[in-house]
Amino acid sequence: MHPYDEKTELAFQRIAAEIRHRLEEHAGQSVGKLGNLEALRAALGDSISQQGLGVDRTTDLLLGEVVPHCIDQGHPRSFAAIPSAATPAATLCDLVISATNMFAGTWASGSGAIFAENQVLRWLADLAGLPSTAGGTFVSGGTVGILAALIAARHRTRRDGRCLAGGGVVAASQEAHFAVDAAVAAMDGKIIRVPTDATYRMTDHTLREALENDLPAETIAVVATAGTPNLGVVDDLESIARFCRKHDIWLHVDGTYGFPAILSAHHRSLFTGIEHADSISVDPHKWLFTPYDSCALLYRDADDATAAHAWSGTYLGDDTCGTPEAIDPKDFALHLSRRPRGLPLWFSIASHGTDAYRRAVAASLDLTRRVAEEIDRREELELLIPPALSVILFRRRDWSMTDYQNLSRSLRDSGKAWFLPTEFEETAAARFALINPQTRFEDVSAVLDAMR
Ligand SMILES: Cc1ncc(COP(=O)(O)O)c(C=O)c1O
Repeated sequence: MHPYDEKTELAFQRIAAEIRHRLEEHAGQSVGKLGNLEALRAALGDSISQQGLGVDRTTDLLLGEVVPHCIDQGHPRSFAAIPSAATPAATLCDLVISATNMFAGTWASGSGAIFAENQVLRWLADLAGLPSTAGGTFVSGGTVGILAALIAARHRTRRDGRCLAGGGVVAASQEAHFAVDAAVAAMDGKIIRVPTDATYRMTDHTLREALENDLPAETIAVVATAGTPNLGVVDDLESIARFCRKHDIWLHVDGTYGFPAILSAHHRSLFTGIEHADSISVDPHKWLFTPYDSCALLYRDADDATAAHAWSGTYLGDDTCGTPEAIDPKDFALHLSRRPRGLPLWFSIASHGTDAYRRAVAASLDLTRRVAEEIDRREELELLIPPALSVILFRRRDWSMTDYQNLSRSLRDSGKAWFLPTEFEETAAARFALINPQTRFEDVSAVLDAMR
């Protein structure tokens, strides 16, 4: 299996050609399809056998059946959920990580990669305005990032003599991602969903109301969202941070989707207060243009993270030297084995520069504004809220959920575009998330045309 033979070389060439083709030209290709279960069974059903199919035939299956039946999240007409538009540079780096099989759980094994990851973590920390004590790591996604942060929050609360038993109470907006519920449930905690104000933001005021001026003693954290999943709204971080400081409660900012908008001078003020966060999560695979899966998890004080997450065994060794760069990423979240998930972000930013990132994020925000204006112009459409970041929510007058679903499926089945309907105030709505700088106005207006 392991020797690199001629057949493997042929497979390598085919796979390399496919990768090059993808990196060169997205727009002309299909957005990807949903696999028909029967057809997938017929094509892949016998693929696990005693003899093996051979790398040739298995490459046929990979390129002919597996790849086309996955949505190309980086396609310029992919607007569903939060898409992902990796730069070719980030993708190339990801390939190197796989080919060299980097282990970046410990400094002893992955010092080069960890050093580079820490550089990009520091760039993110500086954008947020976190102090020099900040530190962190990259985990697989926002859900795991929130979980790791809340574990650290609970640890600190217990250390301070509060919340000695139980999973702890976490407050988050009604509009927060279900990832917060999942993390709190995993900790056997309790979540309080806080109503939002008229602009769908959680504020210190809505927090006080929800907690009835009487904070549960077991409260371990408030999770504020910078870019809510359905609406793309940023909670009032400044007043929430004030509330948390007053009550000495850990503040986690879920910037999984929206944090990169901090790069836009026009949007920077939405993030005022984030500099007080105890932890922040940001998914580079969303709006920082890397492949899946990657979440930058930052702590204001690295010691809060290591106090909760540092476990060790004599079989691992220890080559760390107490500096903020030479750390063991295993000590910052619930993981040991890990690929250096932050390295593609480092490579892409080091290659293109932070100005290119600013321009790319600004391009999505500008496009969003233009599309919102276009929706306003079209009589059959209705913009439901002014977009705060790059999520657009709108309605086709008289359409039901079935109408949206039919259009969504037919666009996907024809390979033309990919969007998903949602609900807004209990009615069906269309939702586009625009994070891909290669998406043109025409890509979006073509879908609006299909709603005529
Ligand atoms: C605001 C927000 N939080 C958390 C998550 C969960 O992140 P992940 O899918 O990386 O686990 C998402 C995913 O879209 C999100 O938008």
